[in-house]
Amino acid sequence: MAQKTIFLTGAAGFIGMHTALQLKARGDVVIGFDNFCSYYNPSLKRDRAKILKDNGIHIYEGDLTDSCALQKRASGATHILHLAAQAGVRYSIENPKAYVDANLVGFSNILELARLFKLPLVYASSSSVYGANIKLPFSVEDPTDKPINFYGATKKANELMAYSYHHLYGLPCTGLRFFTVYGPWGRPDMACYSFTKAIIEEVPIKLYNMGKMKRDFTYIDDIVAGTLGALDYMGGARVYNLGNHKSEELLYFIDILEKSVGKRALIEKLPMQMGEMRETFADIEPAKKELGFSPRISLAEGLPLFVKWYKEYHSA
Ligand SMILES: NC(=O)c1ccc[n+]([C@@H]2O[C@H](COP(=O)([O-])OP(=O)(O)OC[C@H]3O[C@@H](n4cnc5c(N)ncnc54)[C@H](O)[C@@H]3O)[C@@H](O)[C@H]2O)c1
Repeated sequence: MAQKTIFLTGAAGFIGMHTALQLKARGDVVIGFDNFCSYYNPSLKRDRAKILKDNGIHIYEGDLTDSCALQKRASGATHILHLAAQAGVRYSIENPKAYVDANLVGFSNILELARLFKLPLVYASSSSVYGANIKLPFSVEDPTDKPINFYGATKKANELMAYSYHHLYGLPCTGLRFFTVYGPWGRPDMACYSFTKAIIEEVPIKLYNMGKMKRDFTYIDDIVAGTLGALDYMGGARVYNLGNHKSEELLYFIDILEKSVGKRALIEKLPMQMGEMRETFADIEPAKKELGFSPRISLAEGLPLFVKWYKEYHSA
């Protein structure tokens, strides 16, 4: 396969760092872009950037709202992989404006960049687009016009915006609906990290809907494999689910974390929170057929790998 030069936004992020390393390992060139924002501790992003630097990958510091910076830095790229975003469901209830800037204004700048430079685009969407959908598993054919939080609404908007650029300008664009990604170097605001921290520090874990929640948890290496598959299979305006195709009880997730940490969790059960989905579950057949996507890592295998990283990182 011909070498690609990927303009990778969100390179200092969780999924961005792992994807950059795999792209480099298979012989592609990566141009990183990130604003190192303080949504969560930027020192984790700086540490990820250092790993990339040690592997010959540079991250340019810049913001998605700065279209000149995007155009300057993307020069020479053959593809755009757009992973930068204001992530997080709960924060979108407190601060929707941050999502307008990064996910709507920023995304339109990415589309313009792709149009000007004639670059195929792969971008991160989310299982949050399924919102109030109750049919399981979630299929890309299901309606997604009832997002129940603003984060999900911005991700759905991205899919619609991308479709119109495809229709008007022939832009090849692929959206990837990631389902709860976890693994080493993961995000502090997500369950895997925050529950592990709480168990180690003996602080209660807040469980909404009295703990009756289910998620399709996807290990980072599987997400990266699916993302690389999408970069290699471009054309049209496509959307895929990238999940593990298993809907797991949150209490089972905690059970494995407890065993991996070697301590019991303290649990505080609370009523359902606005904006939360009760269950996510990905139908991954199209991604299997077209992207060669085949998730391999179970929670029982993946969570101990996260806990091992967490302990090493925090003792270093
Ligand atoms: N991790 C998951 O479970 C998950 C699930 C569904 C969708 N996603 C999506 O996948 C993508 C990557 O997620 P992640 O978990 O790696 O998140 P992350 O927050 O670790 O990475 C996103 C990166 O984007 C950067 N960024 C944010 N706003 C920016 C801006 N305005 N300009 C430039 N850079 C900016 C951040 O500094 C960060 O490094 C995001 O689009 C997210 O919405 C993630």
